[in-house]
Amino acid sequence: MEQQLLRDKTQTPVILEETLKESLAFLANLSDRPAGLRTAPPIEDHLAEEGVGSLAALSSFQEQFSAGLSGSPGPRYLGFVTGGSTPAGIAGDWLTSVIDQNVASAGDSSASQVEYQAVNWLKALFGIDDTYSGTFVSGATMSSFTGLAIGRQWVGQELGVDIGHEGLAAIGLIPVLSGCAHSSVFKALSMLGMGRSSVQRLPLQEGREAVDLAALRKALAAQKGRPCIVVANSGTVNSVDFDDLQAIGQLKKEFPFWLHVDAAFGGFAACSPQYAHFMEGINAADSITIDLHKMLNVPYDSAIQLTRHSELQQAVFQNSGARYLEVDAAEVPFVHLTPENSRRFRALPTWFSLKAYGRAGFRDLVERNVTLAKQLGDWIDRSTHFTLLSPVHFNVVCFTLDAPQHELAARINQFLSALTHDGRVFLTPSEWKGTPCIRAAFSNWQTQESDLFIIQQALQEVMLSYQQ
Ligand SMILES: Cc1ncc(COP(=O)(O)O)c(C=O)c1O
Repeated sequence: MEQQLLRDKTQTPVILEETLKESLAFLANLSDRPAGLRTAPPIEDHLAEEGVGSLAALSSFQEQFSAGLSGSPGPRYLGFVTGGSTPAGIAGDWLTSVIDQNVASAGDSSASQVEYQAVNWLKALFGIDDTYSGTFVSGATMSSFTGLAIGRQWVGQELGVDIGHEGLAAIGLIPVLSGCAHSSVFKALSMLGMGRSSVQRLPLQEGREAVDLAALRKALAAQKGRPCIVVANSGTVNSVDFDDLQAIGQLKKEFPFWLHVDAAFGGFAACSPQYAHFMEGINAADSITIDLHKMLNVPYDSAIQLTRHSELQQAVFQNSGARYLEVDAAEVPFVHLTPENSRRFRALPTWFSLKAYGRAGFRDLVERNVTLAKQLGDWIDRSTHFTLLSPVHFNVVCFTLDAPQHELAARINQFLSALTHDGRVFLTPSEWKGTPCIRAAFSNWQTQESDLFIIQQALQEVMLSYQQ
């Protein structure tokens, strides 16, 4: 064995202890770190012939990059929809690296059983019935990619074509109807060869981001009985609006379509009796996307993909013809169900989190974050510097600055740069019905009312200093 590897092998306990110290120091100072920061420390291009060993690598990492790491898993990082990592999530993720199981084939480890159990618990948490099967993927984008791939296969089957075998060219364009599809849906369609332009953007309800049902019905009728795909949105990024899944599900009785639901973070509404009505009708979906590195607060990267069409899923993702991968197993091995062949044991942090905190833990996380978002929304509404653009339905506050429309985008960028530089809170820009806006997305287990106070102070002070 190479000398440095050999030394590391004998020093493994010290290496892990030092890594633990570094981890604890990061967590202890998380709240004091700049929530977000723009930094680009110089990078070394030269790869040395001789390695320095893990302990020296850890020191180098600390020196070179530690100060530049943001407090994104902390309580006042409100950009995008970024969850933190709970202690159970971290514990599960650490073990995932240490035990290093490849959850591709069944029959050689108990890891697949953990994944099945975690999937069942997630279905229970989100009110999804037993007819669905689920797999872990890296994020909502890959989950939607997988769901839409199965939808593509279903459309082919309806038209008598096995797309997995013959290719998409055998049927041509598949229309994808949606009100307010997330950008990742367009990316998935590009990767699937279905094309970004296959999306027909339908009109939205007045003042909302939910699809206009009459427009959806009309667009479905215009397909003249040819099967298509509908992407419903459970939690749009700006105002967290929800399509009416029950009404869309009813349309399946009249029109042939595959219903894909992007519930990347809105799916967490199901965790609370106060918000569960947003997700009513979810069991009409053919495929569902829910992100776990968002409100489940497991470390990046993790999402669940659910479908009630496991055979079609296998038709797409079958990794056939490789005898060496076949292991005798009662269940279909994951290698035949997801885009990846080799797979990280991504289910373990989720298993730990659900075991550690149960339904009550996530009910509290969701309700607390939504309450904080609503409180910030009320404060924005009363403020003289900001304008609330949409009622706060769930965990995101969507607002803008008081400035002439033509200056708004530039003013928002300047304001957000100043806010990032201040470091107490991190927010990201967006656009609400043509108006440049700012989003504050609450999705962290540690965010408390005391943070809200700091956030409001930061917004107010940065706005005043910036106006001077
Ligand atoms: C509604 C929605 N769908 C999909 C995604 C893509 O998620 P990921 O970055 O995990 O792929 C996001 C990310 O914020 C989202 O909010």
